[in-house]
Amino acid sequence: MLVPSDAEPVAPVGGFFERHDPDDAPGGPSVLEAWTGDRAWAAFVNARSAFAALVGTLPGATIWLPAFVCGDLVDPSFADRVRFYPVGEGFAPDLAGVEPGMVAGDLVLFVAWFGQPVGPGVQAFARRRTDLHIVEDRAQALAVGPASDNGWTLYSPRKLLGVADGGLLVAPAGPATLPRPDTSPDSAALWRAPLLRHDDPLGRNNAVWHIVNQGKEAAMAVTSEAMTERSLAILSRTSLSSLVGPRLANWRLLDRALHRWSVLPANLAVPSLGYVLKLEPDARDAVLTDLHAYRIFAAVHWPSIAGPAQDFPRETQWTRELITLPCDHRYGEADMVRMARRVEALLT
Ligand SMILES: Cc1ncc(COP(=O)(O)O)c(C=O)c1O
Repeated sequence: MLVPSDAEPVAPVGGFFERHDPDDAPGGPSVLEAWTGDRAWAAFVNARSAFAALVGTLPGATIWLPAFVCGDLVDPSFADRVRFYPVGEGFAPDLAGVEPGMVAGDLVLFVAWFGQPVGPGVQAFARRRTDLHIVEDRAQALAVGPASDNGWTLYSPRKLLGVADGGLLVAPAGPATLPRPDTSPDSAALWRAPLLRHDDPLGRNNAVWHIVNQGKEAAMAVTSEAMTERSLAILSRTSLSSLVGPRLANWRLLDRALHRWSVLPANLAVPSLGYVLKLEPDARDAVLTDLHAYRIFAAVHWPSIAGPAQDFPRETQWTRELITLPCDHRYGEADMVRMARRVEALLT
């Protein structure tokens, strides 16, 4: 591995978001408007709390989750009611074996993996199974369009732009009983890392804000706390288009160079959480280590998943193979070219 020299100070790429500077959504819609439309919504401090609150309104329901999803979504308060379904290649939910076990009133969660739409199979399922509570987890999705009429949606905006926190729960169309947060969050603690990073564009104090952010994420829990007012204000003052355009353009630049390792099809219509590569586990680890040494903060979604490893070997294997390169709106062509060159050099 090459060790970056002190003579080339380059600002870090990727990692958690510094506080976003909103554009006041001149050409509308704002992120908040685009995500909520005309539906009722509640703003919790994080998505796991929003989801746990919804599950809390359905005391007898079995909770069906994909095996391939972030483990943080499962709270002990309902873990004994969770059952998992497998996920096929190309991130397609495989419900054939489990649907016979789903009964009226159960909740089924689908994930818009890496920000891509859930697909026609899931949409048809949602239209057909109006006896179930359908939830679409859009924690990684910026712009996948309206949800099905009977679907709930869940967002976790700090994964997509510079807000400190937030878990938006958006109700199905029409009247709905929506759980609400009832406690104030510790805004100063939540905002410390994004503000430190905002004030340090060259990343000179990288180690400090990284540790503060790690502490904040480790403290994230299922609570009845609301989203901070500052995060909500940024979501309502930022145009969706200002985030979508650059992210998609950056993804396409990376795809030109890295497509042979991509898990997503070419010509995406909507932006991805990042540029997702699938590599042999050893190569994956080597690329991650090298990029981090260059302060390119590629991520892994997810290092551990909710589904048990013994029952879901394919999904568990993905935890060792996948790597997500940053391509968000903070960056441009020069950053993407530098990153693509570095990855190509390591893999060829
Ligand atoms: C798909 C997905 N849903 C939900 C969550 C939980 O979001 P939060 O951290 O806001 O609770 C995560 C966390 O990584 C996630 O990846």
